[in-house]
Amino acid sequence: MRILSGIQPSGALHLGNYFGMMKPAIELQDRGEAFYFIADYHSMTSLFDPAERRQNTLDVALDFLACGLDPQKAVFFKQSDVPEVTELTWLLSTVTPMGLLERCHSYKDKLAKGFAPSHGLFAYPVLMAADILIYDSNLVPVGQDQKQHVEVTRDIAIKFNEQYGQTFVIPEPEIRESVAKVPGTDGEKMSKSYGNAIEIFGEEKVLRKKVMSIVMDSRSPAEAKPDADKNNAIQLLKLVAPTAVAQDFEDRLRAGGLGYGDLKKALFEHYWNCFADARKQRAELAANRDFVHQVLRDGATKARAKAQEVLKRARRASGLD
Ligand code: ADP
Ligand code: TRP
Repeated sequence: MRILSGIQPSGALHLGNYFGMMKPAIELQDRGEAFYFIADYHSMTSLFDPAERRQNTLDVALDFLACGLDPQKAVFFKQSDVPEVTELTWLLSTVTPMGLLERCHSYKDKLAKGFAPSHGLFAYPVLMAADILIYDSNLVPVGQDQKQHVEVTRDIAIKFNEQYGQTFVIPEPEIRESVAKVPGTDGEKMSKSYGNAIEIFGEEKVLRKKVMSIVMDSRSPAEAKPDADKNNAIQLLKLVAPTAVAQDFEDRLRAGGLGYGDLKKALFEHYWNCFADARKQRAELAANRDFVHQVLRDGATKARAKAQEVLKRARRASGLD
């Protein structure tokens, strides 16, 4: 079974990325042949500074390896080291209905956020389909916001197979309900671009401040809160603390009388502990960049061999051989 996922080097990785995608992906590396990559081509649709892209790419590599991606088990590489994926994007785009892309939420969201409507932004899901199909992927671990893109990928693969004969494996998304949409400090989906993210790594003081800035509702601490399970801080605590500890805080919030500051302080401590080993690991990796670059180069060699095989199949099927 091939497992595949990607993450853009568009900013520091946060708890939404970790629990929604990285942790499931890391757990899946024992269950099949995992391919994970840094989607630097995709980042070109929203990030235009080359130095920043280079730095973010290295940071994503460090973050993912520090969090437990094991290069002995998973193939880890940079998307642009496999340029075959751009050729497959063209082949796929010729069978992709405009309407399919026009319906994509992520495109509409980006426009609403003020991004200029470039062709790259519009065609983003076709490149993503190529990423997935070029490795014969079966399973794609992602957060809820990427579900539609995997569905688009399936539609494109089915279209191509209908047009040119059986060529591509039809992939399935793997979305964990409990972490499909990790909330940010404002209660909305945590995202690099919403200013509501709590990063996995960073300076203790800065991160403590972010945790303490989590928005609570306007009810007084003394009031009983029957909907305590919906509270942001409780939802985050459930991810980073032992179940019994999180349950105890939830019960106290529900009953009334729990100080919001106390809840947030506990959340910070558990969050900080949760990543203590990863922080150590990250510092070691950061001091050994040659190793990180070598991992990505080795990963690219393996990924490229598979990509060339599938691209050849698609070229043959469509009469380009
Ligand atoms: P962002 O929205 O911060 O830019 P990305 O689009 O780079 O994040 O997402 C990378 C991966 O992390 C995707 O699989 C995405 O679904 C997942 N992800 C991002 N934010 C969250 C979140 N708040 N909850 C769950 N998963 C998330
Ligand atoms: N679009 C994904 C995101 O923003 C990143 C991505 C690119 C991806 N190609 C992929 C994820 C292929 C899974 C499979 O999160």
